Order: sequence, then C-alpha cells, then structure tokens
Amino acid sequence: MQPASIDDTLAQLQSRGYFASRELATALFLALAMQRPLFLEGEPGVGKTELAKSAAAMLGTTLLRLQCYEGLDTASALYEWDYPRQIMALRLAEAAGEKPRSDTLYRDEFLLKRPLLQALQPDANNPSAQRVLLIDEIDRADEPFEAFLLELLSDFQVSIPEYGTVRADVPPLVVITSNRTREVHDALKRRCLYQWLGYPDRERELAIVAARAPQTSAALQHRTVSFVHRLRTMDLFKAPGIAETIDWCRALSALSVTELDPQSVQDTLGVLLKYQDDLAQLDTRRIAEALAAED
Ligand SMILES: Nc1ncnc2c1ncn2[C@@H]1O[C@H](COP(=O)(O)OP(=O)(O)O)[C@@H](O)[C@H]1O
Ligand SMILES: [Mg+2]
Repeated sequence: MQPASIDDTLAQLQSRGYFASRELATALFLALAMQRPLFLEGEPGVGKTELAKSAAAMLGTTLLRLQCYEGLDTASALYEWDYPRQIMALRLAEAAGEKPRSDTLYRDEFLLKRPLLQALQPDANNPSAQRVLLIDEIDRADEPFEAFLLELLSDFQVSIPEYGTVRADVPPLVVITSNRTREVHDALKRRCLYQWLGYPDRERELAIVAARAPQTSAALQHRTVSFVHRLRTMDLFKAPGIAETIDWCRALSALSVTELDPQSVQDTLGVLLKYQDDLAQLDTRRIAEALAAED
C-alpha cells in the first residue's frame, strides 16, 4: 500500500522485517510522493538491496531487479528479440506458402522484455500496483550505460523501432544502489533523491538481529551487536555489515554458543571478517580486549 506518511512508511517497512532509519523512511516516502528515483549509497551489507525488496513488498508488487556489471548492454537491460523463435516463425510461414510480413517477426511474444522495459508496463499479477525497479550496484556498470539510464529516467519511455513506443502510465519507483567503488556521474545523482546508508546504531541493529536471527538469546544478541560495533571503530579494511552481524548470530546459534568468549569469537571470526589482513589484526589479545571493553 502507498504509505500515507513517514511514520506509516516506517511501520509498513517494519512489518516486513525492515528497520529503516527515519531519514531513509523520509527519503523513500518522498521518492514515492515526488516520483523521483532514490539513489542509495553505502558500504556493502547495510541494507540497500533489502530496502528495494521491502518497498516492493509494501507496494504489493514483485521487484524488478537489474544487477549491473561491466559491459551490461541494452539487450540485457531493456529488451531483445528472440531470434531463434523469429526464424522458426519465418520458416513456418514460408512452408505454409505465406509471404513473410513484419508482423510475422515482430510480435509481442517474440519480444524478450528485460527489467527496464518491464518496469514501464503494469504488473500482470497486480495491475494497480506501482512498479518497483531496482538498479543494483550501478558503480559496476560503465559510463555509457549511465548515460542511457539518464535518458530513460527522464521520460520513462522507450521506442522500439519494429514495435512502437512503450511508455509508463505511472512511473515506477526506481531504487538505484551503489557500493561506491567509483563515483557515479553527477547528472545521474542530480535526477535522484540521495540517501547515504551508514551502519545502524545499536538499538536498530538489535531490532534487526532480533527479527532476522530470532533463534539467538536476547543476551547473546546484545553481546554480538556490541562486539560488532567495537570492530567497526577499529581500523579494518572491511568492517562487518548488518548482513555479517546476522550471519554471526546464526553461526553462533548453530554451534550452540550461548556466551561470547575469546575462543568462540576466534573460531567464528571468518563469518564477520573476510580479509586475511583484518583477521590477522584480531589476535586473541585484541579479541579479549574488545570483549572486555563492551558495555
Ligand atoms: N534495515 C534493515 N532491516 C532488516 N534487515 C536488514 C536491514 N539492513 C540489512 N538487513 C539485512 O542484511 C542483509 C544484507 O543487506 P543488503 O540489502 O543485501 O545489503 P547491501 O545491498 O547494502 O549490500 C539483508 O539480507 C537483510 O537480512
Ligand atoms: Mg546489495
């Protein structure tokens, strides 16, 4: 359902297990109200992709997701024609003695619609819902793709030479994310509402962990969240994100660990830290210090 206010946005996301900061809920509410794309930037694992999923669930539609990568082209992002089936249709027409016409070849059923094109058309399962399009990790795509995207976002229409123009009656909610491995072009950012996603405060991370790793005790959830917050103040190459905190709680409960001690932390550190230099920094002494410094 379209949220009626910022509080309603917060509540609707929360009922789907997503705990947003007030700033993020405000940005999402405004993106919907002003029909502007939402640009989310932040470290990996802070909830950018998940926000788009939750927003789609909130609006009652399936998420359309375009994962970006180097060399992403319009055939994968927008549409392409299904050549094998077109050729088959052509052969069948010839065999039947028909003269091939353009509508033999360029039919709706031969048009392979990719996420950007799908986002301009209603959701067949819920035609009245606003579409939600996630353009994930735009920093991985190259600049020509950004330029193409800019054009699409300015008028939400696409013209396909053999088929016609496809235009969105209601512009989709567009969520663009970046892990900031490079700066995204100003022109693209200017078109969007911008929101930086940082690590959550303890209270919010506790709520997330309680919702996503309910099998762990409240006491252990407290201890893990405090320890992770401690790690984030250290000079690490890659600090653990929310995803890692959740994974860690799940790992500890799979191991039936009920108390955090230096040994259990040491044994499971690979769930939190994924770089050897970071792991090497956290020897037993530093782990014990970090555990002692909590609370
Ligand atoms: N605010 C949040 N509320 C609930 N779960 C969250 C939140 N932020 C992150 N998560 C959890 O962390 C995981 C990783 O988040 P994700 O959206 O994939 O991160 P990103 O896209 O920023 O790299 C999600 O699958 C979700 O379980
Ligand atoms: Mg992501």
